[in-house]
Amino acid sequence: MNPPAIAIDGPAASGKSTVAKLIARELGYTFINTGAMYRAVTWYALQQGINPSDTAAVKELLKSIPLSFGKNGSVSTVMCNGKVLDEELTLAEVNDNVSAIAAIPEVRALLVTKQREYNTTEPVVMEGRDIGTVVFPDTPFKYFVTASEEVRAARRAAQGLTDSIAERDRKDSARACAPLTVAADATVVDTSELTIEQVVEKIVTDIKNRI
Ligand code: DC
Repeated sequence: MNPPAIAIDGPAASGKSTVAKLIARELGYTFINTGAMYRAVTWYALQQGINPSDTAAVKELLKSIPLSFGKNGSVSTVMCNGKVLDEELTLAEVNDNVSAIAAIPEVRALLVTKQREYNTTEPVVMEGRDIGTVVFPDTPFKYFVTASEEVRAARRAAQGLTDSIAERDRKDSARACAPLTVAADATVVDTSELTIEQVVEKIVTDIKNRI
């Protein structure tokens, strides 16, 4: 049996990354940011001059992609040819193209395999879009973190980012393979009126009561 896996899903700018990182710290679990993995494939495809809508070219690229997925302490990292990727992953062109890359079933299959590997040896808090529905469908710890569209847009703007989160959510929810959706057995946490601390406390308390 694998160690516990905490699934944190939700739309863009819902605060789920910040919340997931703090929950992981509180529990002493490893934090895995799966969005960074989809972003890394997107960044690399763009670097290679590949059109993210050219599914055949992206699939071909996957055969030799020099990305690796590791950890720095208790936080997941993504590397390209051994160099940790960071700012590259939030470039505007990555924001604009990541949904197209994430809709390709072969990309998802590759990354889901890597995501599950993290949990074979250690407990994880994993955040993304399909963690409770696809990556760990059997975990009893599923949280869908969300907020109103206005609040999410304001949070994004406060970060100095201007990507179209509504458009990205629409694409992520409409795709055929592993769309953004609330797992039937997930607890929905609306963070519109809550502070980060309140959200973390709510989820950590629930986990500790049940673990
Ligand atoms: O969490 P994020 O905004 O960094 O994610 C970037 C994109 O990656 C998001 O628009 C959809 C995709 N994604 C996904 O399809 N599945 C995941 N588990 C995580 C992210």
